[in-house]
Amino acid sequence: MDTFECIRKRRDIRSYLKKDVPDDVIRKIIEAGRLAPSAMNLQPWQFIVIKNKETLKELGEFCMSGRFVVQAPFAVVVVTDPVNKWHEIDGARAVQNMALAAWNEGIGCCWIGAIEKVKEKLNIPRNLHVLTILPFGYPEEFTVKRKKVRKSPDEVFHWEKFGMKQSK
Ligand SMILES: Cc1cc2nc3c(=O)[nH]c(=O)nc-3n(C[C@H](O)[C@H](O)[C@H](O)COP(=O)(O)O)c2cc1C
Repeated sequence: MDTFECIRKRRDIRSYLKKDVPDDVIRKIIEAGRLAPSAMNLQPWQFIVIKNKETLKELGEFCMSGRFVVQAPFAVVVVTDPVNKWHEIDGARAVQNMALAAWNEGIGCCWIGAIEKVKEKLNIPRNLHVLTILPFGYPEEFTVKRKKVRKSPDEVFHWEKFGMKQSK
């Protein structure tokens, strides 16, 4: 898929078909995360792939704003190391790489922000930070067709100086 088309069409997906994602595709998605750029190239991230249905079910209990993780064929827990103030930004760039690589394969995901108690369950060292859990799966069709709501160009684009419109 053309890169811009992938960016334009990608949606956050919270309902998934009951269809497994092949391991080579999962591998490609996390590889896209691994290849992301990071401050000073420190790569302060770890990616935990969860396919086990029981674990996904338990994660659902920890994800207050993302119970839908239980339906996903797999999820990736993104863990960052607070080595510096950029670790969450670096992690977010890895997430976007994975989201776009997944979309290119016909797979959607959604950032889950509110997570509790997951460190103990997954043996994540205490000093590390759980940035997000990303459930991945083939989207239910209606989720792709939702209208994409974004601020208009006029609300967010400035030319040369803040508040200046583009001259015709
Ligand atoms: C930092 C961040 C945290 C988010 N947290 C949640 C969340 O906890 N639960 C959820 O369902 N969606 C969450 N989202 C998804 C946003 O609601 C979504 O990106 C936004 O509505 C745009 O969706 P769209 O690209 O499909 O239009 C989060 C997104 C980001 C970037």
